[in-house]
Amino acid sequence: MKYDFDTWVDRRGTNCSKWDTPGRGLDPSLVLPMSIADMDFPVPEPVIEALRKRVDHPVYGYTNPGEGVTGAVIDRLERKFDWRIRPEWLSFSSGVVPSLTTAVRALTEPGEKVLAMSPVYPHLPWAAPRAGGREAVFTRLKTENGRYVMDLNDIERALAEHKPKVIMLCSPHNPGGRLWTREELLALGGLALKYDAYVVSDEIHCELVLSSRRHVPFPSLSSEIAARSIVLMSPAKTFNVAGLGTSLTIIPDAEVRKRFLQAEAGVAGEPNIFGLTALEAAYRHGDEWLEQVLEYIRANLSFLTGWFNKELPQLKVMEPEATYLVWVDCRGLGLDNEALSLLFREKAKVAVVDGFKFGEGGEGFVRLNIACPRSILEEGLRRIASAIRGL
Ligand SMILES: Cc1ncc(COP(=O)(O)O)c(C=O)c1O
Repeated sequence: MKYDFDTWVDRRGTNCSKWDTPGRGLDPSLVLPMSIADMDFPVPEPVIEALRKRVDHPVYGYTNPGEGVTGAVIDRLERKFDWRIRPEWLSFSSGVVPSLTTAVRALTEPGEKVLAMSPVYPHLPWAAPRAGGREAVFTRLKTENGRYVMDLNDIERALAEHKPKVIMLCSPHNPGGRLWTREELLALGGLALKYDAYVVSDEIHCELVLSSRRHVPFPSLSSEIAARSIVLMSPAKTFNVAGLGTSLTIIPDAEVRKRFLQAEAGVAGEPNIFGLTALEAAYRHGDEWLEQVLEYIRANLSFLTGWFNKELPQLKVMEPEATYLVWVDCRGLGLDNEALSLLFREKAKVAVVDGFKFGEGGEGFVRLNIACPRSILEEGLRRIASAIRGL
């Protein structure tokens, strides 16, 4: 079927995080939200049908993933990434963010360090203090040809100096949307092996690929690397079901798996009945929708880059290879963090995510979510332009 992504679906009045609570002190009736990472699009029809069917069965008790769900994940990973996993590698939880903390708790002791590449989705480094007494240390991403690249020399220096037990990888990277190449990932994996570190790879955005390259799941690189990896995935971003609280964890090594499951027991929530139902339907029958939504996002991206080049050339777009999150370099405006934040929130009345929230290197940037109808994107860009022209 042909999906309609142009029609705006009013999410206000549904306790929607993005539209009903766009930010502290912001009036939801005046502010256009381009912030929190979910899409303003209805989910695939087969997902709605599966949920309706499940709702019609009137008992919503404790539920296991079962073979249908596990099989849907295994088949999908093989089809999408040519990666054959074993059923016992797989477990489910209520979200990637809690699993990041569980992974750090499982692989480190209090007082030990984890390494993250800044700027980065803050929940990766936050997993260290959340796991109890662990500390995050950082290496900075470099910018080459307008894209982030890993600074492998600096990563090696940090591994030697701080001896972190875990490297937190965001793959694809948020913010900036880098789709890491096999070579980059192999180099990182080589360093992890050399310095006896594990890699916790947050791959929640792995199916939102805008470029023609394919995502490479970190543990699929080699069996040695797989033995040192935990990967976290989810249908939440891909199929816009973040409110259904269900994610998956893949751990090839039996000992690492045991430690993760022990750390998780009684702490991280279980996935829920509707999340599992949606996951199975989306993974089995969601591809027609996914192809169309990716086309729509690519078209939004090219509209946005054309628009910035023409209307606001002093702002530079870091073109994402994956994700629907666009990282915009506003340093050309010469504003400090607070003034930039006020410009977007108060003057433009557009809610964005402030770049400094992603840590060092994020200052002077903002992150824009473009998974919305074109009309909303145009309105957001118009507001931004008129606020900047009024400076
Ligand atoms: C890299 C990354 N990981 C995790 C999440 C959130 O995951 P979850 O809602 O499953 O906890 C997000 C949401 O924006 C994200 O960008």
